[in-house]
Amino acid sequence: MAEIRVEKLTKRYGEITSVENVSLNVKKGEIFAMIGPSGTGKSTLLRIIDLLEPPTSGEVYMDSLAICSLKGVDRLAAIKRMGIVFQRPIVFNRSVLDNIRYGLEIRDIPEAEIEVEVQLYLNMLGLSDFADRNALLLSGGEAQRVALARTLVCHPEVLLLDEPTANLDPINVTIIEDAIIDANRKEGTTVLIATHNMFQAKRIAHRVGFMLAGRLIETGTASKIFERPKDPRTESFVKGEMVF
Ligand SMILES: Nc1ncnc2c1ncn2[C@@H]1O[C@H](COP(=O)(O)OP(=O)(O)OP(=O)(O)O)[C@@H](O)[C@H]1O
Ligand SMILES: [Mg+2]
Repeated sequence: MAEIRVEKLTKRYGEITSVENVSLNVKKGEIFAMIGPSGTGKSTLLRIIDLLEPPTSGEVYMDSLAICSLKGVDRLAAIKRMGIVFQRPIVFNRSVLDNIRYGLEIRDIPEAEIEVEVQLYLNMLGLSDFADRNALLLSGGEAQRVALARTLVCHPEVLLLDEPTANLDPINVTIIEDAIIDANRKEGTTVLIATHNMFQAKRIAHRVGFMLAGRLIETGTASKIFERPKDPRTESFVKGEMVF
């Protein structure tokens, strides 16, 4: 379990300000959903938290550790405490089984434990019949289940999800949401999920944040954001009235 605290984070790409002065606290064991129109900085925020790129200014704290400025082994150690799943699943040109084993192998987990863990997550994500298939030949929903299994099997303290169920059918959505909820309830995994799907945010999130043009406009419980938002921009977005 870990808390993620984002402090005054800004990310600029030349003229474009993708994230602007965002401060956010995702508590230990919380599922936090980030909603907002396209191009408002949700993915950028997730990439910076996962240390895939540096912020222009600001800092991310994992518990009390400032992680953006870490170097070398300390940086690697922080990255290993997190797991990220992207909208377009990233899988290796290997079997489903090998894909799921990978993270445990590089962590030097004993073989007997690897076998038990991999079976557990193959089952949880409905992948037992696919274990020997090449992951590159799977459907989008199947590949996304592999990507999530590969991340969850490493028991990340912080799970970052970038629209993990976009364009998936309801059965895949349910399997994936159930696995996220299971990790959160059983292991206290802290989850930050970017989603366009407001129903998904309502179903799984303890709190929701609304981003617009790089800024975090409002945060609150799902019922507050969807039923009693404070900011008129949040209200017009959740009512589907915002014109992009
Ligand atoms: N590497 C980059 N170089 C230049 N501009 C970028 C880069 N990455 C993101 N941007 C810009 O930053 C802004 C925010 O992008 P981001 O992908 O974070 O938005 P988003 O909220 O995730 O959108 P979506 O809901 O469509 O996924 C956009 O204007 C985007 O074009
Ligand atoms: Mg995005």
